[in-house]
Amino acid sequence: MKVYDQLVNKEDTLSVVGLGYVGMPLAVAFAKKGLIVTGFDLNENKINQYKKGIDPTLEVGNEAIKNSNIEFTIDEKALKKSKFIIVAVPTPINTDHTPDLSPIIGASKIIGRNLSKGSIVVFESTVYPGCTEDVCIPILEEESGLKCGCDFSIGYSPERINPGDKVHRLENIKKVVSGYDDETLEQIQKVYDLVIEVGTYPVSNIRTAEAIKVVENSQRDINIAFMNELAIVFDRMDIDTNEVVEGMNTKWNALGFRPGLVGGHCIGVDPYYFTYQAEKMGYHSQVILNGRIVNDQMGKYVAESAIKKMIQVGKAPKNARVAIFGITFKENCPDCRNSKAYDIIKTLNEYEINPVVIDPWADPEDVKKEYDIDLIDLHNLDNVDCIIIPVAHTDFKNISLDELKLLYKISKDEEKVLIDVKGIYDLEELKESGISFWRL
Ligand SMILES: NC(=O)c1ccc[n+]([C@@H]2O[C@H](COP(=O)([O-])OP(=O)(O)OC[C@H]3O[C@@H](n4cnc5c(N)ncnc54)[C@H](O)[C@@H]3O)[C@@H](O)[C@H]2O)c1
Repeated sequence: MKVYDQLVNKEDTLSVVGLGYVGMPLAVAFAKKGLIVTGFDLNENKINQYKKGIDPTLEVGNEAIKNSNIEFTIDEKALKKSKFIIVAVPTPINTDHTPDLSPIIGASKIIGRNLSKGSIVVFESTVYPGCTEDVCIPILEEESGLKCGCDFSIGYSPERINPGDKVHRLENIKKVVSGYDDETLEQIQKVYDLVIEVGTYPVSNIRTAEAIKVVENSQRDINIAFMNELAIVFDRMDIDTNEVVEGMNTKWNALGFRPGLVGGHCIGVDPYYFTYQAEKMGYHSQVILNGRIVNDQMGKYVAESAIKKMIQVGKAPKNARVAIFGITFKENCPDCRNSKAYDIIKTLNEYEINPVVIDPWADPEDVKKEYDIDLIDLHNLDNVDCIIIPVAHTDFKNISLDELKLLYKISKDEEKVLIDVKGIYDLEELKESGISFWRL
């Protein structure tokens, strides 16, 4: 009998290793289809939260976790009873921008130690082409004493979910799948087809599937870098970038990208995985790395534009009360890792400005741990000189300009400065508001 049949007949278990933004929705989706699911994570605190039915990622919601029959565990031995293991551990970069493979190496060791014959291991973590076969297979073989292709098999299926996005969900995003051989691919496809309503997209080998993921994110990164470069130049030309972009977007083949801060642990990270491997092949990236340089400096650029604006209207930046709206890496998502809003704060700090930070989505404890910042509540905010909005949370978009004005210093002589990074306010309304504004 094949793995797929064993899973649907409940004779075997499906395990997810790494229960974060990617792993948790997968575990819940398979559990909803009636499979026996084990969710394994090294983070005991997280596992305890899941056991209590709390979803800190806000991706699936507390009810879905409470109603699922997932066995949450930090005990790696629970993986022994699994014939289908999905790996969704982080793949960050080191400070020198090289891949930090320690989580995926660690996960491979754990799985290898607990691997049973006839199993399929599918990696979902974003890696460079060749990583799964060159790095993970040898570890799995060494730890298990089993041979890939004979005793067990592997596959790779990149994840495309977009945290905070309520439209593009796991079930309705086409899923690329690949396998070590045709038989494995067929099994992997059948298993994922249980939960992916729009179906899977098989490719001929694992390297191709790995490449698809890193380059789709690199493509986004480069396009945003192009828009950011335009924004820097248009600022010097006194042209509103958003107006240009809206004009461009009226053409049938416009790409629709906008300037912005590229944070998080996907778009700003994955290109480095690709360029790292390209470098090993003797090719030094000309386009992708330069895009990274442009995007990585945008936080500093925004902060310095705010300082310039304050000086232009007669404020002494050092004495100004500055408020930052949003510290998460993107809108409507609680994930604050690798936040580019923090780059704005760091640059302001260099000018001895200590802004206050508001974010209704971020977990105050996470923000304190990650950045040593105490969030304040919007209701406690007043008397500000300058508001910088780097994150377009719906909560911020719902604040009208009249409401926003109430947060500034009351004196008529005090100019109100607004840095509307994402252009959430209408240009004409901004012009009429009496606020001195700048937008990217
Ligand atoms: N979050 C996204 O938007 C997104 C989208 C597509 C792809 N990805 C990729 O998916 C992967 C996972 O990302 P994520 O956002 O879910 O990360 P995450 O940090 O939210 O979750 C990863 C989990 O893995 C756990 N973990 C780390 N090492 C482990 C180990 N050895 N064994 C077991 N658990 C371990 C961590 O404790 C954490 O709970 C990454 O490669 C990422 O690039 C992420």
